[in-house]
Amino acid sequence: MITKFYSNTRLKLFAFCALSAIVIFIYASYTDYYFTQFDNFYEYENETLKYILQWTSPKTMPFVYMDVGRAGFKSRNCTYTNCVVTPNRSLLGDLRKFDVIMFHGPELHRAPRSKDWPKNRAPHQKYVFASVESSHYYPVCSPNLDNFFNWTWTFRLDSDARWGYMLIKDSKNTVIGPNKIMHWMKLEDMDPVSEEFKVQLRSKFKAAVWFVSNCNDKSGRKAYADKLQIQLQAKYNLTLDVFGKCGTMKCGGWNSQESCDKLIKENYYFYLAFENSLSEDYVTEKLLRALQFDSVPIVLGFANYTRFMPDGIYLDANVLSPEELAAKMNSLILNPEEYANFFRWKNHYSYHSREETPEDNDYCNFCALLNDEEKMKKQTVIHNFHEWWDNPVHCKKKAGK
Ligand SMILES: *[C@@H]1O[C@H](CO)[C@@H](O)[C@H](O)[C@H]1NC(C)=O
Ligand SMILES: *[C@@H]1O[C@H](CO)[C@@H](O)[C@H](O)[C@H]1NC(C)=O
Ligand SMILES: *[C@@H]1O[C@H](CO)[C@@H](O)[C@H](O)[C@H]1NC(C)=O
Ligand SMILES: *[C@@H]1O[C@H](CO)[C@@H](O)[C@H](O)[C@H]1NC(C)=O
Ligand SMILES: *[C@@H]1O[C@H](CO)[C@@H](O)[C@H](O)[C@H]1NC(C)=O
Ligand SMILES: *[C@@H]1O[C@H](CO)[C@@H](O)[C@H](O)[C@H]1NC(C)=O
Repeated sequence: MITKFYSNTRLKLFAFCALSAIVIFIYASYTDYYFTQFDNFYEYENETLKYILQWTSPKTMPFVYMDVGRAGFKSRNCTYTNCVVTPNRSLLGDLRKFDVIMFHGPELHRAPRSKDWPKNRAPHQKYVFASVESSHYYPVCSPNLDNFFNWTWTFRLDSDARWGYMLIKDSKNTVIGPNKIMHWMKLEDMDPVSEEFKVQLRSKFKAAVWFVSNCNDKSGRKAYADKLQIQLQAKYNLTLDVFGKCGTMKCGGWNSQESCDKLIKENYYFYLAFENSLSEDYVTEKLLRALQFDSVPIVLGFANYTRFMPDGIYLDANVLSPEELAAKMNSLILNPEEYANFFRWKNHYSYHSREETPEDNDYCNFCALLNDEEKMKKQTVIHNFHEWWDNPVHCKKKAGK
């Protein structure tokens, strides 16, 4: 009887709590939604708002990380938060009222002749081509979009607005790159690696690691890695450990990202920073990871790597055959002093993600660009857009159709 009474009360109590929680949740979401909307579009009527229309799907990168309204700039603590993002074409009643209209590159690839372009265009507006994806996967291959965009927002170092995977600072903490023109110190002028750091490097006992989730690449990296693996194994009894979807290895631990990073740092001499596609300046977070976790990067890609790293701190699979690379790796593993020289850069430079501070943040900088009255007013047109974006080799198939 007592038990029954007890459990009955408990049940009621539980039901009451659950119901309250639901009511509070609904109320909170509603008010949150309401105020966010309010906040986003109508706050500070005296402030000049910059309206950004996402013409293509708002669910793609980088649009999805711009958030809706002003939220994306506020949450990043940007200096300028007066940019308002929306996918709603009728928000302002007239398309010509938007300051910027953005187009997501990979969607243009599919429909370069789309009839769905904005009908009315005002001369003050900036049409922006945005892509974080490589032009190898998403070339445009058509002159239809020449003289259409005013600005580009991509990983290309000569884009009007930058989007990227890494930031390079000098020893004074000044951002210096990546950039087309870099003034690197020469390796021989860099300070030698400290004894403590050399001791740290001694924990390494495995040759190379590769994290790869996309097994169907366009760059030929899988074929190269397979050959390298055979060379390392057969000639030097060294291994290339492959993690991720296309490999067999797994990092332990509950936080696999962190435990992988630890493995890279402690175990591996070399890290394969192989890009899945070949595009100018297309260098992704793989390179950053190698450099941040003290493993010498082996690069493969179409970038000009001098824009990203000083000479002598990485190995280049674009110029070395798998045989040559395996021999070089083996010789460095056998010569700890020579291997340590690959880390001299750490005395003079540091590599960062671009999200560490609002000043470095690509989204913040995009809104800041819209607040640069001079740049906004300046009439700029990308005349030869497809020549700029595409590698003609990647367009051949299309052209022949
Ligand atoms: C807009 O108005 C608010 C409140 O009246 C004021 O604090 C703010 O400084 C004003 N901003 C501008 C840009 O005039
Ligand atoms: C923004 O600033 C707030 C308050 O200072 C802080 O809690 C938050 O972590 C910051 N966010 C970012 C992304 O820096
Ligand atoms: C778009 O904005 C207009 C004007 O503010 C509004 O009436 C409409 O409901 C919005 N559409 C969506 C899908 O939010
Ligand atoms: C790489 O870029 C640098 C600086 O932009 C340039 O001087 C050099 O010629 C480029 N190398 C190649 C192979 O294009
Ligand atoms: C190859 O290396 C493994 C450990 O990495 C070792 O156990 C084995 O004896 C080596 N084989 C030869 C032939 O040296
Ligand atoms: C943008 O490009 C268009 C089309 O080429 C051009 O007419 C317009 O003047 C440009 N506007 C700005 C602000 O650059």
